[in-house]
Amino acid sequence: MDNGFKNIVDELKNTQSITKEQFVYILERGDKDDLEYLYAAAREVSEKVFHKEVYLRGLIEFSNYCKNDCYYCGIRCSNRKADRYRLTEEEILSCCDIGEKIGFKTFVLQSGEDPYFTDDRICDIVRAIKKAHPDCAVTLSIGEKTKESYKKYYDAGADRYLLRHETANEEHYSKLHPESMSGAYRKQCLFDLKEIGFQVGCGIMVGTPHQTVDNIYEDIVFMQELQPHMIGIGPFIPHQDTPFKDEPEGSVDRTLRLLAILRLLFPKVLLPATTALGTADALGREKGILAGANVMMPNLSPSNVRDKYLLYDGKICTGEEAAECNACLRGRVSRIGFTVADSRGDHPDFV
Ligand code: 5AD
Ligand code: FES
Repeated sequence: MDNGFKNIVDELKNTQSITKEQFVYILERGDKDDLEYLYAAAREVSEKVFHKEVYLRGLIEFSNYCKNDCYYCGIRCSNRKADRYRLTEEEILSCCDIGEKIGFKTFVLQSGEDPYFTDDRICDIVRAIKKAHPDCAVTLSIGEKTKESYKKYYDAGADRYLLRHETANEEHYSKLHPESMSGAYRKQCLFDLKEIGFQVGCGIMVGTPHQTVDNIYEDIVFMQELQPHMIGIGPFIPHQDTPFKDEPEGSVDRTLRLLAILRLLFPKVLLPATTALGTADALGREKGILAGANVMMPNLSPSNVRDKYLLYDGKICTGEEAAECNACLRGRVSRIGFTVADSRGDHPDFV
């Protein structure tokens, strides 16, 4: 037994703050018993805010065209082997119709940075979804744009925006992205999105090449400044047709520790147990919920394109239909003693 570990967990829970030394300790030390203490503390905080409810978000991957060339990502523009596709507005709308029938109240529209989807096209799609499903939230996850573009999406009715910052450290950022991309601009996007009024999600991959524990602490400091409404984290998983194909996969254990720390630091934040976590470990998503996460994002994309939106190798759910993922996740949630929420699942400050 290690009292140091538990004392840090208690202090973290009581103060919602953590020093770098304490952070390193929680990430790297502790036995099984200590970890259970950490996860129990995170669950307790999560339960106080969310009452053992898990929010489901239907994820629609509507285009895998991307003008960017991030070294980690399977749909980077240099990957000539990626089989590119775009959904039509009608196809996207029909995904939402199916999604609402199976009980989803949030649709997450995600794509690569695809110039075909101009602001006008995005706004048309958002308006059409909100018209057909006025009780549902629309989340966009379509990358870096200008503040003017973000404002247009917001005015068209989009509620939330996901843009992982990937790493808060400039030098680390430059090891994951080509020179044409800038970590500073990405952070600026997040501040712009917040100012416009979106519920905003940032996030990182755990275990990307060259990532240090210090880097992750910088991510936490950045999040404390941004105060995001959502934080998406999952392990890095290599993709065979990228420059990082031979790099090791990120650690599930480290991802779970980080989820718990984030729950204790940000009690009200929306924290998904991601598909990457479920890919790296068959029970990863359940473990994520039991470590303080409160969101799951079942795939709602049409089954004929699912095996094309591959950011990393081995992605789960590429052979399933929307209804199957829905039933699967509902089962997983109830087996660990949680329930699926009926509400839209907004951040507590937006209810
Ligand atoms: N492994 C895990 N996650 C990845 N992402 C992109 N490529 C990978 C990968 N190889 C994540 C990024 C991106 C989000 C949509 O998916 O963090 O922001
Ligand atoms: Fe898709 Fe389990 S969530 S099959």
